[in-house]
Amino acid sequence: MAIAPNSTSFWATPQIQVLVNTFSSSSSLADLGYPSKSINIIKKKPTRTANIQCALHSPSVFHFPKQPYQQPVITTDNNSPSTTVNPKIQQPPSEWNPIQKVAAMALNMAESALLSLELKHPLPKTADPRIQIAGNFAPVPEQPVRHSLPVTGIIPDCINGVYLRNGANPLFEPVAGHHFFDGDGMVHAVTINDGAASYACRFTETERLVQEKKLGRPVFPKAIGELHGHLGIARLLLFYARGAFGLVDHHHGTGVANAGLVYFNGRLLAMSEDDLPYQVKITASGDLQTIGRYNFNNQLKSTMIAHPKLDPVSGELFALSYDVVSKPYLKYFKFSPDGEKSRDVEIPLPVPTMMHDFAITENFVVVPDQQVVFKLQEMIKGGSPVIYDKTKKSRFGILSKNARNASDIIWVESPDTFCFHLWNAWEEPESNEIVVIGSCMTPPDSIFNECDESLKSVLSEIRLNVKTGESTRRPIISDETEQVNLEAGMVNRNLLGRKTRYAYLAIAEPWPKVSGLAKVDLFTGEVKKYNYGDTWYGGEPFFLPRSKNSEEEDDGYIMAFVHDERTWKSELQIVNAMDLKVEATVKLPSRVPYGFHGTFVDSKDLADQV
Ligand SMILES: [Fe+2]
Repeated sequence: MAIAPNSTSFWATPQIQVLVNTFSSSSSLADLGYPSKSINIIKKKPTRTANIQCALHSPSVFHFPKQPYQQPVITTDNNSPSTTVNPKIQQPPSEWNPIQKVAAMALNMAESALLSLELKHPLPKTADPRIQIAGNFAPVPEQPVRHSLPVTGIIPDCINGVYLRNGANPLFEPVAGHHFFDGDGMVHAVTINDGAASYACRFTETERLVQEKKLGRPVFPKAIGELHGHLGIARLLLFYARGAFGLVDHHHGTGVANAGLVYFNGRLLAMSEDDLPYQVKITASGDLQTIGRYNFNNQLKSTMIAHPKLDPVSGELFALSYDVVSKPYLKYFKFSPDGEKSRDVEIPLPVPTMMHDFAITENFVVVPDQQVVFKLQEMIKGGSPVIYDKTKKSRFGILSKNARNASDIIWVESPDTFCFHLWNAWEEPESNEIVVIGSCMTPPDSIFNECDESLKSVLSEIRLNVKTGESTRRPIISDETEQVNLEAGMVNRNLLGRKTRYAYLAIAEPWPKVSGLAKVDLFTGEVKKYNYGDTWYGGEPFFLPRSKNSEEEDDGYIMAFVHDERTWKSELQIVNAMDLKVEATVKLPSRVPYGFHGTFVDSKDLADQV
């Protein structure tokens, strides 16, 4: 029998109950382990039963916590007492002038009215927090560093450094809709030092989190969960009205920094594609401390996607920025190894398009211009602004890494192709082709919008002929009986942009949970699977090469957080990538929710941290 999570009592719960009649104090979230006393979601259950398709919405919020959120205490070394790094919480009313207090009250009333309207309609599965953050998708509180964790087996000598993984972890309990992607960013870190392991997890102190903690409740619109239809427009207006009265400040970003992680030029960056990155410092003791929003020394003026690509040979970092409202809808830029940014290259797109990921080769960037687009006018019609446009041609743009403008970009159509992630790409000059390895997802918008068709994510090879402009696409796993949903993973990043034989990917079955990992031979289509066990599930497998000089591409280890839904325990597993045998497991002191992407910072690189 499953043991309910004991950590969900961490929610910052409302102090003042608003719209009491419209909320149920019961059960639905309590069933998932949430405290029953807090204001809970909607009275009406959705008409359809749960089958999470993904996560990106969130509900809103009209509450004040019963207890102020406790400020994180960052440990700076193994022996010293804790150090508080954030300013003391201030009660907002005392900061506000009388006009602001009146405005706040009026806007709170407006929000109550809005919430009561929202609660009249059942939430789609993609916005129902009872589905989106159920079980081990539920958030956890921060954990200070715990040292000397129990280790089973022997951690290989070559693993010295910090494994970090980002994820969505909403601080405040949703009171209406919530999509998994909407949660506040939290980084989980396991430090390994000569076979010993420690663990900590911390929120990334984004501008929105800091402001919401001061207010004691969420007030920033949630990108997927809330911005839907007329009520989504109302939420935006409400937010900007609060901004006009100085009750919130959106001028320093609204992102959650919950998706990706990269260590570049001495800085660990936590990223989501709707904002600048945030710099997070790894302390000497293995704790995490948010330094702040990072604009690369005033060089980056726009958002940056959460999957920048670090070239293993040149040391350059390549990135995109997309805009859902105004042109240019897409920009490409890169950073030199010492952090100097190139000029933006504006890539003309006919409509704003969601571009979660892209790829690099030795000489090119490969940009997926696909069929999931933003049509804000759909909100006026009452719908979602993120839609699957079947009439649009999906295509890949191939642009020189050193391009100064997009005049030479080559577009190659790849019909009905939607890859949320691209695992690698390389050049095959003998056939004038760029080869792209990605997981093709159908239906393309199933992450964002409720649909009846079950999601499929098929590892595929896409060949783009830059001479003829033609393309081919085929599933890589040759044996159809072996076909499984593969999402989240990577190739050996020492070979990113170069021809790789192996990919290490999460077996996303039953979607959206991950029951194991797959090592796929991209040349032969052979797949080797490692299952976590009957009640065990995980997330992205992270491949760590043994050395930059390894002769064998798969000479290294796969690291992944896994979780036993029976005992409710989590651990870090370290699996030999050559034979898929477990080398070691690190027992973690607290639950690690399923999350997104990770990275590893080697102890030698850590020494150069800024
Ligand atoms: Fe991603």
